[in-house]
Amino acid sequence: MKLICGNSNSALAEAIAAHMQVPLAQCNVRRFADEEVFVEIQENVRGDDVYVIQSTSYPANDNLMELLVLIDALRRSSSGRITAVIPYFGYARQDRKSSPRTPITAKLVANMITQAGADRVLTMDLHAGQIQGFFDIPTDNLYALPEIGKDIQKQKFRDNIMAVSPDVGGVVRARALAKRLSTGLAIVDKRRDKPGSSEVMNIIGDVSDKSCLLVDDIIDSGGTICNAATALLEKGAAEVFAYISHGVLSGKAVDRINSSDLTSLVITDSICATEAVTKSSKIRTISVAPMFAQAITRIANGESVSILFE
Ligand code: R5P
Repeated sequence: MKLICGNSNSALAEAIAAHMQVPLAQCNVRRFADEEVFVEIQENVRGDDVYVIQSTSYPANDNLMELLVLIDALRRSSSGRITAVIPYFGYARQDRKSSPRTPITAKLVANMITQAGADRVLTMDLHAGQIQGFFDIPTDNLYALPEIGKDIQKQKFRDNIMAVSPDVGGVVRARALAKRLSTGLAIVDKRRDKPGSSEVMNIIGDVSDKSCLLVDDIIDSGGTICNAATALLEKGAAEVFAYISHGVLSGKAVDRINSSDLTSLVITDSICATEAVTKSSKIRTISVAPMFAQAITRIANGESVSILFE
């Protein structure tokens, strides 16, 4: 077995390798002067079961290209089986035609990864579970929820906690957290009465005096979570925490979180933390390296992966 990584999240790749006690394969992923990606695998991989660890996070296009070029290099080096390990699968939010004459880029990216030569995919918390079906190769979608649940149980939250979905689309995830913690469930329902009117946030469920745990797959600009936190406090919540699988945190998102009504935000290390994230007193990171290490070991041994979610 071989583990190999691009430049998107080498900290996570090293942590996975340390858990598995398998060194990362020697590989040089660099740029030509014009920014073309060039890959050189510096050890024999002929016939090996190879796992390429690369999140397609910011800069999404560069990191995606690195993944594709790595897979191509491995295929042309006669690897036995290539698994694309994509802790954060970028472009997942473009999973349907949101309006006429728009692309379904999640499908395009799935095609590109398959065409490059991947035999299977291992990822986590796809924005929509059905994206697994965009790949015509075996695809395992891990869930951060068990790790999130463990972290919540270690914290000294008041008894009065409630799982909250920040939008109607995330209800399944929040319901799963509520079930795991045996708590109630609330939903933030955003709507505009008519185009151009300001957005109204209604809360479905009684959150008064509750410690609310917002749960979502992605935090990008931070708008969804910060606005939901304010709306929950206005409805009488005692405090608001957020647990999010993928800390995309673009632009001024960290500043927004630092000055928001959130008590704290917990993200996973599926995306490499920026300096602003590591310096923020409100943001904490939990590692999914042990979970990925276990999943890779199970795939390599032909064992069940779904057992990890039970
Ligand atoms: C949307 O459906 C996703 O689950 C997230 O809620 C969304 O991507 C968050 O984006 P932002 O942080 O920019 O509001």
